[in-house]
Amino acid sequence: MAEVPAATTAVFKIDLARVLSNWHVLNRQVRPAFAAAVIKANAYGMGADEVGSVLARAGCRLFFVARLDEAVRLRQVLKPLNLTPQPMIAVLDGYVAGHAGDYQGHGLMPVISSIEQLREWVSENDPSLHHRAILHFDTGMNRIGLSLTDSAEVCLYSQSMLDPWWGLISHLANDEDPTDPWVILQKQRFDSLLPQIPHQRASLAASSGIGLGHGYHYDFVRPGLGLYGLYPIALEGKTLPLQPALSVYGRVMQCRTVDAGAAVGYGATEVMEDGGRVAVIGLGYADFFPRSLDLNQPLTVKLAGYQVRPIGRVSMDLMTLDISQVPPDRVKAGDWAEVVGDDNSVMAIATAASTSPYEVLTRLGSRAYRHRVQP
Ligand SMILES: Cc1ncc(COP(=O)(O)O)c(C=O)c1O
Repeated sequence: MAEVPAATTAVFKIDLARVLSNWHVLNRQVRPAFAAAVIKANAYGMGADEVGSVLARAGCRLFFVARLDEAVRLRQVLKPLNLTPQPMIAVLDGYVAGHAGDYQGHGLMPVISSIEQLREWVSENDPSLHHRAILHFDTGMNRIGLSLTDSAEVCLYSQSMLDPWWGLISHLANDEDPTDPWVILQKQRFDSLLPQIPHQRASLAASSGIGLGHGYHYDFVRPGLGLYGLYPIALEGKTLPLQPALSVYGRVMQCRTVDAGAAVGYGATEVMEDGGRVAVIGLGYADFFPRSLDLNQPLTVKLAGYQVRPIGRVSMDLMTLDISQVPPDRVKAGDWAEVVGDDNSVMAIATAASTSPYEVLTRLGSRAYRHRVQP
């Protein structure tokens, strides 16, 4: 454990060297296509300023964020790096009418997802800039995106442009299963759009889609979660060597003995029939562990080299571990429990809380101490 302030009880270790390595792995995997980096929602909690800077310095030339203000901030962080060419920053929310100055002033690209946005983009910006946008078509997810029926109007706009659109993308609803008929249908629809809409680059796959093989890579891929190494992506029977970037530690606040038949935590949900010992950790749902965690799931935390079980309800600032099996002299107040690390994954916690690793990451609490490992 790195040096942390004495009053700290919860630490997020964010390994930027691993993020960088993951990006290289994905970028190599998709050659001759390239990997952009999706760093919206503060780079899935890992820190958009830091992740963006590290990847931009390493040669990543296209970033995706969701909101316009995320993009403006990212540009302010990347500009002083004086990279040539400056990385492109694409705004997944698209074009926000009346904000032409922001897009032009900060060199941002809208990911246009409706015909209204397209009209506004074209009417509010100089014709020489019109092609500097990415068109996002919905091919079957029924979330955000231009409809396939919009393609005729898009083609009309395209005719008056000097250059083809910078990019054309779609997003898969279920990108883990190449046999899923919806994945196949979405790909067919995307393929049928490509000859209709003049474009310079095409992209369909996010992280899992990379595992669907080269037919899904087109000109670039858009990994988010994979950059943070959170789950292995099956690839032609192999697994990509992605490494989890986040480790989470909680400090032992106290150890206590529990009498036989006594309960632990709010709601007395856990009764220690035979009694035992618990370690109370200074990390709760305000920091990390979702309160909805189902503690009947096989979930463990590493403490003093032992894998021990969380018991009782997670409270706002604290959680409790059953350390009955750990020799008493091995654990004391001030020690650190590894809640997430190479042995205990965010995925396991997400599963036990009936949610996804995306949600666990993007809800990392603000008060925990962030220790960033530089490449
Ligand atoms: C349009 C788009 N592309 C790429 C991504 C990145 O997806 P993932 O984190 O699964 O790689 C997202 C994530 O929400 C997205 O909405």
